[in-house]
Amino acid sequence: MHILITGTSSGIGHGLAQEFLARDAKVWGISRREAVDLLQHPNYHHLSLDLTNHDGVRRLVPDFLMDSNRFDLVILNAGVLGPIKWMSEVDADAIKQVMEINVWANKVLLDLLYELGKDIRQVIGMSTQASLRSTPGWGAYAISKAALNMLMNVYAQEHLNTHFSAFAPGLVDSDIQETIFNIQETDKYPTVKKLQEARYTEAMPDSRAAASKLILGMEKALQYDSGSFNDVREI
Ligand SMILES: NC(=O)c1ccc[n+]([C@@H]2O[C@H](COP(=O)([O-])OP(=O)(O)OC[C@H]3O[C@@H](n4cnc5c(N)ncnc54)[C@H](OP(=O)(O)O)[C@@H]3O)[C@@H](O)[C@H]2O)c1
Repeated sequence: MHILITGTSSGIGHGLAQEFLARDAKVWGISRREAVDLLQHPNYHHLSLDLTNHDGVRRLVPDFLMDSNRFDLVILNAGVLGPIKWMSEVDADAIKQVMEINVWANKVLLDLLYELGKDIRQVIGMSTQASLRSTPGWGAYAISKAALNMLMNVYAQEHLNTHFSAFAPGLVDSDIQETIFNIQETDKYPTVKKLQEARYTEAMPDSRAAASKLILGMEKALQYDSGSFNDVREI
């Protein structure tokens, strides 16, 4: 298997890369930071890059992916939480930054992959239940992930040889969960309180423990219409 994963330096992307490498896949990973354990693996290739830098993507990704003309799976996983604040308190520029990585970076990368003539079997856009139902404080994240869901749907209509899904991974311990864990105003943001309570319980495994189930969920997602939203807990 040839797999391209964005956001492999920590969390879900890191756990998925570890698991795919353990299954003898070749993995190409992109993130700003590097994960030392992945770099040591002969089947792992890393590109340190800010995916919101569109010129950098267009300049560096072609050479980086030169050795493979097909990808069995492209996992658009890199993402940020953004500010947890009521919408009226969030600066519009802060929302734009969240949209840049959670939405537009994925568009730019996908367009480039097709332009380079890569044969892509499946694309997973890493989404969340918050894309369907926001709760107080989650506005920027929820809007960006709702847009990601539609981005997957739009590409599904226009690239019929690739299967697309917006995919919710469930709760996985990660840097994003660490940020949520440290938020103080839990009365104002009820979902934050629930996530803080779930941390260090079976309800929120670490990314290595979650990876097998996520990979199985991605395989199952192929049975659903291209462009649909799937939650790993429901398929
Ligand atoms: N953890 C959960 O419970 C959960 C639930 C639902 C959805 N998700 C989604 O899962 C995905 C992974 O999140 P995570 O929880 O694993 O958090 P994480 O540990 O913070 O991982 C985020 C990854 O995205 C990369 N990234 C962020 N901005 C980037 C940029 N500008 N350019 C390149 N890479 C960038 C980070 O790498 P660098 O900082 O090194 O660039 C990191 O590898 C996100 O899309 C998140 O929305 C997570």
